[in-house]
Amino acid sequence: MQARSRPLALVVLAAGAGTRMNSDLPKPLHPLGQAPLLAHALASAAPLEPARIIVVTGHGAEAVEAALADIAPEAIAVRQAEQLGTGHAVLQAADALEGFEGDVVVLYADTPFIRPETLDAMLAARDRHDIVMLGFESADPTGYGRLVMEGDILQRIVEHKDATDEERAITLCNSGLLCADAGVLIDTLRKVGNDNANGEYYLTDVPALASASGLTATAVVCDEAETLGINSRTELARAEAHFQALRRAEMLENGVTMQAPDTVFFALDTYVGRDAEIEPNVVFGPDVTVESEARIRAFSHLEGCHVSAGAVVGPYARLRPGAEIGNDAKIGNFVEVKAAEIGEGAKVNHLSYVGDATVGARANLGAGTVTCNYDGVMKHRTVIGEGAFIGSDTMLVAPVTIGARAMTGSGSVVTEDVPDGALALARAKQVNKPGLAVKLMDRLRAIKAKKG
Ligand code: UD1
Ligand code: MG
Repeated sequence: MQARSRPLALVVLAAGAGTRMNSDLPKPLHPLGQAPLLAHALASAAPLEPARIIVVTGHGAEAVEAALADIAPEAIAVRQAEQLGTGHAVLQAADALEGFEGDVVVLYADTPFIRPETLDAMLAARDRHDIVMLGFESADPTGYGRLVMEGDILQRIVEHKDATDEERAITLCNSGLLCADAGVLIDTLRKVGNDNANGEYYLTDVPALASASGLTATAVVCDEAETLGINSRTELARAEAHFQALRRAEMLENGVTMQAPDTVFFALDTYVGRDAEIEPNVVFGPDVTVESEARIRAFSHLEGCHVSAGAVVGPYARLRPGAEIGNDAKIGNFVEVKAAEIGEGAKVNHLSYVGDATVGARANLGAGTVTCNYDGVMKHRTVIGEGAFIGSDTMLVAPVTIGARAMTGSGSVVTEDVPDGALALARAKQVNKPGLAVKLMDRLRAIKAKKG
């Protein structure tokens, strides 16, 4: 992104009812790529390093504001009590923009695919014009506002409902995104009335009103796919497919190997390093980092975790929040790891649960090892030292510490700490009864034969 001399503020409209979602969840919070739609709108502008972020809330304001505090704690939420139109919505940001000198970009919480490069092009056009709208060519423009251009000057925008037949023939549509100087935008919005087919205060009246005061407006044109808005579950499902297609292409471009990219699902914030390999049917939840040359094998599910270079995870592994997998470590089939650091080169290869634990470098956890971390009320930690060898089917009853290079016998229930280098045996001693197995079976067969 180009360095800009003028500071940037974002105003994100997130007040609408989203009636067609048919949901109790406010539309800006519906997930796309495991992140709320609102997070996508903010992510598209993040590379432009906005100095101020204002989100206009209304329907479901409390929930939207709580999510916002998580996504962008620096953002300011302003309420639009009644949804009187897009112009009215932006005007609610007037107080929050008080004293701000710079440009404002208006974004929409339900429009997640805007590329940072497009916003950059709008800001570049602002160097030559006072108002910049984002438009797109549509094969089916019905319903959209139309951009009435004269050369590169945007004369005005006419909403579909208010348009003449001649104006409806225009295929250059309004995306709704706008860029203007903060002072100019607020001053112009104060002049907007609601004398139109919807009785609303239209943001789209801004270009014509600005022109009337001797200012100029223009349009930057982007691909229609970028302006895709989400109004229904069907559109949300389509958007998810589109999001995944974009992320898969981006991953391949960045040097990630995938044999069946169409079966891999990414989250908005998934990071995968160069030369990492993602096998088929892997699902990424939020907040996952996979470093270079790590391998995530088929049918694994990862969220809130970090996989270091050279590590192998899966097939059929589950990494939950706080799983920190060290370099060249191995997490095998049907292994679940939560809030645990697995040291460099350590192995947890089969059928294990490792939660609230620290596993030292090169430790080996045998099949069926379980950290019993939960006593029904509280969680406790297990610490396993470097190079320790945990026998198969060991129950590690936390809090417990296994020393470096210590061992546990298979089937042990370990409730006490094991010193460095010690072997812990915590299981019943084996007793052999010669001939008893055959005798027992003969007796059982005889009983069955008598019953007929
Ligand atoms: C708007 C544009 C239209 C454009 C279209 C692109 C206006 C008047 N029209 O029409 O030119 O082609 O978007 O999709 O701007 N919102 C609020 N508060 C309000 C009203 C709306 O926050 O009082 C939010 C909505 O939640 C939505 C967005 O603003 O996210 C756009 O509003 P919507 O009612 O969908 O406008 P359109 O009629 O689609
Ligand atoms: Mg709309």
